[in-house]
Amino acid sequence: MCGIIGYIGQRQAQPILLSSLSRLEYRGYDSCGIAVASSGLEVYKDAVRVEALAKVLLQLDGTAGVGHTRWATHGEPSQVNAHPHCDCNGNIAVVHNGVINNFQKLKQQLISEGHSFVSETDTEVIPHLIEKYYDGNLEKAIEAALLDIEGSYAIIVLMVGEPKLVAARRDSPLIIGIGDRENFIASDVPAILDYTNRVIYLEDGDIGVITADSIKVRGEGTEVKRKQHRISWSIEDAQKAGYEHFMLKEIHEQPKVIRDTLGRYLSATEPVADWAMITDTGLENILILACGTSYNAALVGKYILEELVGIPVRAELASEFNYYGQALARTGAIAITQSGETADTLKAIKRLKGLGGKVVAIANVVGSTASRIADQTVYTLAGPEISVAATKSFTAQLMALYWLALSHSKLDISRRDGLITGLRRLPGKVQQVLDSEDEIKEGAEYLSKYKDVFFIGRGINFPVALEGALKLKEISYIHAEGYAAGELKHGPFALLSSDTPVIAIVAQDNTYEAMLTNIKEVKARGSPVVALAGEGNEAIGELVDSVIIVPQVDAIFSPVVNTVALQLLAYYAARFRGCSIDFPRNLAKSVTVE
Ligand code: G6P
Repeated sequence: MCGIIGYIGQRQAQPILLSSLSRLEYRGYDSCGIAVASSGLEVYKDAVRVEALAKVLLQLDGTAGVGHTRWATHGEPSQVNAHPHCDCNGNIAVVHNGVINNFQKLKQQLISEGHSFVSETDTEVIPHLIEKYYDGNLEKAIEAALLDIEGSYAIIVLMVGEPKLVAARRDSPLIIGIGDRENFIASDVPAILDYTNRVIYLEDGDIGVITADSIKVRGEGTEVKRKQHRISWSIEDAQKAGYEHFMLKEIHEQPKVIRDTLGRYLSATEPVADWAMITDTGLENILILACGTSYNAALVGKYILEELVGIPVRAELASEFNYYGQALARTGAIAITQSGETADTLKAIKRLKGLGGKVVAIANVVGSTASRIADQTVYTLAGPEISVAATKSFTAQLMALYWLALSHSKLDISRRDGLITGLRRLPGKVQQVLDSEDEIKEGAEYLSKYKDVFFIGRGINFPVALEGALKLKEISYIHAEGYAAGELKHGPFALLSSDTPVIAIVAQDNTYEAMLTNIKEVKARGSPVVALAGEGNEAIGELVDSVIIVPQVDAIFSPVVNTVALQLLAYYAARFRGCSIDFPRNLAKSVTVE
């Protein structure tokens, strides 16, 4: 996610902005920039590290400025796409964190009114809107601009001749740091912790105006008093927003990730991907290639696409496809990769393209190698994922698959509308899972004492069993295996005993009765069973040793809530065992070798 900082006070702004930006580097970024107000507006930005930007900067003379670290979402990492962004006259500088869903429409409108744009970003519409509405009152112009905007934002605005910084937020965090004859605005605490530990958290809809000596906050049109907090965190704690690990922070970010990713797709004025490109190849099937957690998303994608689009789909491990699959080569393919840099997935994309195939990538990193070599890229908006174990990127990949399937499905309108409503409700449903963390923690404590665990699922929740097992083994080092529930009797039964707990994912779909039978078979062999079941299915408690209840959703969306519950289960099991959760032994976030 982007990081933002604003400073106004008695000191030179430039060194403070640069050191604050370096404190935001942990969030991951591809470009950075600052703007300082002196006689005019001085803007320096590029697709480089903060250290490299600092080296080429002249000494800027000014005591107010804004800075930004960018994680590209609209447009590749480049100098023009880096923030701050300005209006036509270069008087207004804006830094932004978030996603403006209706920027294409706003941009067209502004161009027709004579504004000219230089970047591909959604952000650039903001300074132009402020310029359009400015008639001597900056706050009023910003309020008017924000009324036009749909989406999420945390912004800071700096304007020549206006000795203040103005900030506003909706669905993206923003804090004011209170100093001594100086004040700060930032996307998060680490940016300001070297200068002050007194902060005000802005709320959605707030507009904050700071000068060197004053702080005013307006909420819903009137001045409001927001509480001051004293931060006792170290910089390291602050980078994790108070969570003990990045993994837990990233698990908790999922409602926002779903909202942002769906927001982008649901408001798109053009199709998210040219489906015809990957289906009109003469072969009526789709191939999905991926590795690791992305492969588990691919397996869920198979069920989603087959059910909603009605085309046969094969999900293949990219590393295996590279050595067989000649017969599959002349087909349309989707490659899923969070990083866009996984060597096996890149090789598979190249191989397919070499054999005449077309590839749509689903990637989280704008400008990554996968996005450059694929024919098209559908981006997920999970933001940078720091913990090695993938969590929020998996959920965002599922959103891309749901949306690809829905936008090309031949469903009747009412089923389609029902599913879109279901998708829109998912952030709330995932929040419900997160709210039941204590219950899941109990289950994790119980699991943490075992050496071997099986996860079983059926249908669309079979890949969820694989993902649950993968999460548990990679961070807790407990040996875990995911199985299709019906397969357990073809071998693994030999391992079942009171020392081998089985986690059964019980979906309320056509697999329900068969799963109950499988649970009974497992119980008969003495294994303890923990069921993951939807609300309203509490009765399953009579069959099993304990139940984790997740919110009820349409069966096709059950992988989302079930996976989030299993992420928490793995996380707490690893925590009870005292493991190195964010950086597990022998693993890497991005595997760039075959
Ligand atoms: C590594 C990571 C996994 C990830 C896999 C694929 O093994 O540790 O979390 O799922 O790579 O990565 P990708 O970036 O292609 O999704």
